[in-house]
Amino acid sequence: MSHLLPLSRVARLVGQSRHALQEMIRSGALATFDGMVEFDELLRAFPDVKWDDDAELRRVNEIKEKAFAKRVLERALPDKEVLAARLTELGNDYAAAKALLAHYASVMAWLDEKIDEIEEEGSAETRHALHTVRAFLLRNLAEAPADAAQAQAAIAHERILRIMSAHVTIQPSGHEFFVEGNDTLLEAALRNGVSLNYGCSNGNCGDCKARLVSGEVKKVHAHDYVLKQAEKDRGVILLCSYAPVNDVVVEANVAGARDIPVQEITAKVKSVEVFNPHMAALHILAPRSQRLRFLGGQGVRLTVDGASGRYAIASCPCEDRHIEVQIPRREADVFAEALFTRLKANDSVAVEGPYGEFVLDEDSPRPVIFLAFGAGFAPIKSLVQHAMSLDLAESMDLHWLADVAGHYQDNLCRAWADALDNFAYVPHPPVDDLDAALRAIVTDYPDLHRFDVYAAGTAAQLERAEAAFTGAGLHRPRWFAGAIDA
Ligand code: FES
Repeated sequence: MSHLLPLSRVARLVGQSRHALQEMIRSGALATFDGMVEFDELLRAFPDVKWDDDAELRRVNEIKEKAFAKRVLERALPDKEVLAARLTELGNDYAAAKALLAHYASVMAWLDEKIDEIEEEGSAETRHALHTVRAFLLRNLAEAPADAAQAQAAIAHERILRIMSAHVTIQPSGHEFFVEGNDTLLEAALRNGVSLNYGCSNGNCGDCKARLVSGEVKKVHAHDYVLKQAEKDRGVILLCSYAPVNDVVVEANVAGARDIPVQEITAKVKSVEVFNPHMAALHILAPRSQRLRFLGGQGVRLTVDGASGRYAIASCPCEDRHIEVQIPRREADVFAEALFTRLKANDSVAVEGPYGEFVLDEDSPRPVIFLAFGAGFAPIKSLVQHAMSLDLAESMDLHWLADVAGHYQDNLCRAWADALDNFAYVPHPPVDDLDAALRAIVTDYPDLHRFDVYAAGTAAQLERAEAAFTGAGLHRPRWFAGAIDA
């Protein structure tokens, strides 16, 4: 049993976060080989895991599903072609294991015969030695090892996860995610917040071309775009039409803020959520054929009946067609007025964007402090959810310095803190002395040089916060600011 498992799969098997496992690796409690974990090591490091009882994992996932408003662990079956291929692979593994066992049995029978032959002619000493060897072999073959039941349950659990999901590694970025249910590679990437290049998402444009480096995929949706033979020979596939059969490595470009073009779509209002007289959220749904490509932290221009405004997106790019925009009620903001007074479900809204470069540095593994001033919570919420879906930061601390609208999504922030062991939420009431409040926050971080800080608020608030954080040791290039009044 020497097969190797990627860390993300181990995290799923034992119901722990990748960060908790990375901590175990750092402390020497879990050994890895080329970043992978051997099955025997898994059993050694987690002797107490109940492999046949995933109640705890399900409980944590249910909390996460509520907190992130997205699917965490899909239980739908894969596409039938993919399922058949995965079952065939499992059958082949089983046949290979059976053939190996039959081979071992024949080797044992030969050995038994040889011992018989030698025993007849050998000296008393040789006979005694052979007797001991035979007794040892028979005893050990008859008795199952002490942890056999544990190993069997772990293998069964791992096999079920392999049938239900496949692990994907994107090169050269190193992003990892699972493809679950009947998702294509593109759908799974977007669901996990990985912004791969794509256009039509239905096999027409060729923008989602990528190269399969290893593993096996199946076409699950027909595509009109024609791949040239030379491309097929190089392993080029369309991410929107293929699903992985087993764990795959794919070479594909991950888009940054500057790579995503400004798009224009007409979305439908799903609901208007008025938190209080000062703040409301507009939930809109992009058309099935035209999702809006954006990154966490970016903004859009919204227009309805000539009333227009530019606002920060408050949802994660991983949320399929759903987009949430949070809008404070401000004088002279005609779009906000329309939102608070007359917008209703099914109304059409013109959406243009995305805009802005206040996005995550996905290459940084550093711990993160999120700093939201009032309505600056909107882009911060989007960034937090994007970071969660990418499983990005070592730890995340959210400081929300409220304004007159208060902590209007306090429960959500507390749910994140409940669901994740590496997330802390610190609400701060409205303050008169902003500099004193910032000084109090930075005092809690004597090692600020290790952190990335993402802050959103008015330009004036950001200027003072930047001075406080860099003055307390934060490296200036690790300060990321998004002005909501720009
Ligand atoms: S996104 Fe257009 S072909 Fe895949």
